[in-house]
Amino acid sequence: MVYRFAGRMGRVPDSFLDELFRVSAVPGVISFAGGLPGSAYIDVEGIRDAARDVFTDEGRTALQYTTTDGYLPLREFIAGRYRTRLGLPATPEEIQIVNGSQQCLDLIAKIFLDPGDAVGMERPGYLGAIEAFSLYEPEFCSVPLTDDGPDLDRFASLVREHAPKFFYGIPNSQNPSGMTYSDDTRRGVADILEGTDTVFYEDDAFGELFFDGRPRPPVKRYLPDRTVMSGSFSKIVAPGMRIGWIYAPAPILREFNVAKQAADLHSNFLCQAILHRYLATHDLDAHVARVSAVYGRHCRLICDLLDDLMPPGTTHTTPEGGMFMMVTLPEGVSSTEVFSEGVREGVAVLPGVPFYVGGGGEDTIRLNFSAAGEEDIGEGMRRLARVV
Ligand SMILES: Cc1ncc(COP(=O)(O)O)c(C=O)c1O
Repeated sequence: MVYRFAGRMGRVPDSFLDELFRVSAVPGVISFAGGLPGSAYIDVEGIRDAARDVFTDEGRTALQYTTTDGYLPLREFIAGRYRTRLGLPATPEEIQIVNGSQQCLDLIAKIFLDPGDAVGMERPGYLGAIEAFSLYEPEFCSVPLTDDGPDLDRFASLVREHAPKFFYGIPNSQNPSGMTYSDDTRRGVADILEGTDTVFYEDDAFGELFFDGRPRPPVKRYLPDRTVMSGSFSKIVAPGMRIGWIYAPAPILREFNVAKQAADLHSNFLCQAILHRYLATHDLDAHVARVSAVYGRHCRLICDLLDDLMPPGTTHTTPEGGMFMMVTLPEGVSSTEVFSEGVREGVAVLPGVPFYVGGGGEDTIRLNFSAAGEEDIGEGMRRLARVV
């Protein structure tokens, strides 16, 4: 039987992830390959109590259909947090709840991209965004990341020459590199986009997870009418709830709402109500500070072990937050061989290749530092150093 799938399915890069999840689940393998928040830091009891209270107090409402834009008290909470944490004048009307911020990537691409349209990205870029955008058959153009964020000269020429419908960036603790834009780069990006009709998509999946607890100014502050932001409770409460949001100017949100309604009517209302109850009765700041401190310790430990154990010629990024860092291997060492040999030695890492649209990254690996415990990190790094 031949199934006549749409041509767009052939445009999605082969995902390495199935293979990755398979090997990461092999007993005895210490994995730095995945992207899971630390399970130990999910407040199961707190969420269970919130769920019980929702079932008791408002079960019949929360188990009904609701509006596409999402539970108003939850949108009020998110808008309030933008106002107090980041000084952005957000209102609940500018927020829409989605099924994990990954859904924003699909829906933004759906409302903006026709086949052949240019879309801009960082290089390396988030694999989940490459996959989501690919289904809409755009032409990718990318700007290499420097220690300060995207190279601004290259960014300016990309915008001038390709006029992308939008540029997708992760200014805070990027996935996969762990890099954070400097304040000047944030302003620079906004200045370059001002007066063009390219939108900036600011994915803020990790903005709450700076090890020093200091929020960085979002690009949206400098470019409010052309910036779409997305955020998520996945890394700060629990990814299984699948609750994220988009914060966007009204004309974009209107189109987004149409696409969201057609896709799934609304995100899981029960989870929205439970999450809101949890947030209203628990101290999110204290929880986030605890999680960030643990990730910061893990990250510093890995950086020190890389410096001590890896052969000369190895370099790595030094993240200020988030869950990922990138290692560049010594010349001639292939990341795919490190992956295969690593699995035999009991350590899993993610080759950087799928993060580079159009090729590249063969000498890079991404390391996750949120999932493995401190006791496994030392042994895992020793195995990795042996393999390299
Ligand atoms: C940069 C980035 N954006 C978005 C997502 C999607 O997360 P979620 O759908 O759980 O909000 C992820 C997941 O790891 C991510 O790393």
